[in-house]
Amino acid sequence: RYEKWWLTFGVGSLVVFLVVIGVGAFHQGHQPPSSVKTINYEQVDKTAPFDEPGLKKVSGQDWDYELVVVASAFYYAPVEAEIPVGSKVKIIATTKDVVHGFEVAGTNINMMLEPGYISEYVTTLDKTGEFLVLCNEYCGTGHHTMKSMLKVV
Ligand code: CUA
Repeated sequence: RYEKWWLTFGVGSLVVFLVVIGVGAFHQGHQPPSSVKTINYEQVDKTAPFDEPGLKKVSGQDWDYELVVVASAFYYAPVEAEIPVGSKVKIIATTKDVVHGFEVAGTNINMMLEPGYISEYVTTLDKTGEFLVLCNEYCGTGHHTMKSMLKVV
């Protein structure tokens, strides 16, 4: 008799446990953290805004420009961007293959680009000059050649 009671108790506990897990997963599934943006990295070229990398003037936002960057071994698109000094720019970047870096030498821009994720950073460019964009994550044999140029004019 005691064995039967314990069995019932055990199964009951298991059911309660599974329901709690299930309800938790359901709620999380419907409320994903909004700060993390994901992307299918195999479809980057076909996914807006990454189907058109480059600088775009925008309106109705907190920032003046958006710089859309696609990294891949061992290139950045665009190879070069020219931005008016004083502009507030949102950099929106991702990678088509492995982890790459996006560090703009001499500025506070330093992002890590991970496959499957979109990295964003908003900053104001208040110094004129030609700033070298470098990859600071080891990404393969061409890592040291991976660069682009940000011109603030
Ligand atoms: Cu890309 Cu190192």
